[in-house]
Amino acid sequence: MLSNFLHGGTGTITPQSIRHSPEPDADMPTPETRPNNSPTNTNPQRRKRIVVAMTGATGAIMGIKVLIALRRLNIETHLIISKWAEATIKYESDYHPSNVKALADYTYNINDMAAPVSSGSFRTDGMIIVPCSMKTLAAIHSGFCDDLISRTADVMLKERRLVLVARETPLSEIHLRNMLDVTRAGAVIFPPMPAFYIRPGSVEDLVDQSVGRMLDLFDLDTRDFERWDGWKKE
Ligand SMILES: Cc1cc2nc3c(=O)[nH]c(=O)nc-3n(C[C@H](O)[C@H](O)[C@H](O)COP(=O)(O)O)c2cc1C
Repeated sequence: MLSNFLHGGTGTITPQSIRHSPEPDADMPTPETRPNNSPTNTNPQRRKRIVVAMTGATGAIMGIKVLIALRRLNIETHLIISKWAEATIKYESDYHPSNVKALADYTYNINDMAAPVSSGSFRTDGMIIVPCSMKTLAAIHSGFCDDLISRTADVMLKERRLVLVARETPLSEIHLRNMLDVTRAGAVIFPPMPAFYIRPGSVEDLVDQSVGRMLDLFDLDTRDFERWDGWKKE
């Protein structure tokens, strides 16, 4: 069961660490967490800032581990979780979505189209959608921005770095075409493919290696996996 390692190390969730977000207003979604120290656009010495989005593809643990790794690296995180990501988090892990949100510095309601991250003028260092469903891939591909994840991804494509941990198998021609087109538009497709050359001893080893390679794309080193250094002779 994945639960054994989900709560280990730096990922440990305590009740004290859980922020309780207000319920969004039905008509006008509000930010889920806007602490007193709202994210600033002007401080030149601000922390590196990454937007993390989780959608309803299988692999919620990858998003959770990305958040844990970024927290350990002292990166400011802005989190958006889709409705189906909440469902897969509950089904696939021992985390409650509120525990996952507590790993981020800021979280936004997916319908809050006025959130800071929805604008290109809000400075960030990139966005990762992990895992990324084929539905969200298609929304990004078509530029159909009807929620905060697709809107922010649309902004990232024109302004900054966008990494899509696109997960589905097998892949249809539509999936492949969408991936090719968004790659041509500047996104990086990072399918979470297991790297067996690390000779993994557990699922955790595979997830850590994938998360490490994802964050390499933002020039961040988790130091949590072994890099290829040529054949190792016994
Ligand atoms: C348990 C479960 C696993 C799923 N796995 C995948 C997947 O690996 N890839 C995918 O594209 N969709 C998957 N889906 C379907 C998506 O959740 C669905 O298309 C949803 O509309 C995605 O919406 P979102 O991108 O807004 O989260 C899965 C759904 C469930 C319930």
